[in-house]
Amino acid sequence: LPVLDIAVLGAGTVGSQVIRLLGEQAGDLAARSGARLSIGAVLVRDPSAPRAADIDPSALTTDAATAIDGRDLVVELIGGIEPARTYVLRALRAGASVITGNKALLAAHGPELYAAAAESGADLYYEAAVAGAVPVVYGLRESLAGDRITRVLGIVNGTTNFILDAMATSGASYGDALADAQARGFAEADPSADVDGLDAAAKCAILASLAFHTRVGMDDVAVEGIAGVTAEDVAEAAFFRRVIKLLAIAERRTDESGHEGVAVRVHPALVPLDHPLASVSGAFNAIVVEGEAAGRLMFYGQGAGGAPTASAVLSDLVAAASHRVHGGHAPRESVYAHLPILDPGST
Ligand code: HSE
Repeated sequence: LPVLDIAVLGAGTVGSQVIRLLGEQAGDLAARSGARLSIGAVLVRDPSAPRAADIDPSALTTDAATAIDGRDLVVELIGGIEPARTYVLRALRAGASVITGNKALLAAHGPELYAAAAESGADLYYEAAVAGAVPVVYGLRESLAGDRITRVLGIVNGTTNFILDAMATSGASYGDALADAQARGFAEADPSADVDGLDAAAKCAILASLAFHTRVGMDDVAVEGIAGVTAEDVAEAAFFRRVIKLLAIAERRTDESGHEGVAVRVHPALVPLDHPLASVSGAFNAIVVEGEAAGRLMFYGQGAGGAPTASAVLSDLVAAASHRVHGGHAPRESVYAHLPILDPGST
């Protein structure tokens, strides 16, 4: 079998699980992709830091150029905009297939990344950027490519769902629940991205772009986080047989003058207990997709954490490796609708 050389940028919660699984599942991954997947470099900040996975010490580097240049596949799991953006662009321009879990980068600079990929003929994959193990990127882009999506609605941030769930079920304080979510590896490096709704907004923008074939960026999403949700709010919701969930909502709308557009928003909402989203607990995510022909579908599973997110990275690695060996490309950005962004409060 041909050998494909992989760089893993970042060996944190997700990166270390990707490295572990690449080792443990090597035989199966090779059989499925048609190539032996070999880790040539792991980019870290501190090579002497203790790591969860068994990493060949000779692969560790603190130098981005050494890590990226000449690799076939580059997995970016650093998060945040810079230096992740510079590294991903460098890899794409060199023709590497890039697999990223970086929702903030995609929601802020997606078009720039797609343009760089198109120019060099490189591939860009990002199943891990939205809802961890849940295959909703593939679902919207591939499985539902024949349908006309009207609405995407869901819980796409595990940390805030874990916090709201702990407050509702065990009466935990907001602070204790957040600390617990951090200890379990669900929260972003800076958990304000979770609690302020920005992580969910980035995912909402990505889902809306895929669903409606238009460009929706981070700045288009109206955002309210959960910092203002109190124990009293949670108890009052329960009294009225409701539960508070942080929802991401992207929908096709027609404005007063009959023009079609898209409205995108993230905010805490009261969900009736008999609604399917009400029973989504802990760090689980669920996304309801409404298609004109398909009707209502629900994607559900572990939306945060090392191994579930690594599962999505591994599936992209298999696809990317298979394309490199057998020919073909990752799907291109599908933008043709150019819908205006509507004020989510206008209708
Ligand atoms: N911090 C994110 C969450 C991780 O809690 O959902 C997955 O993107």
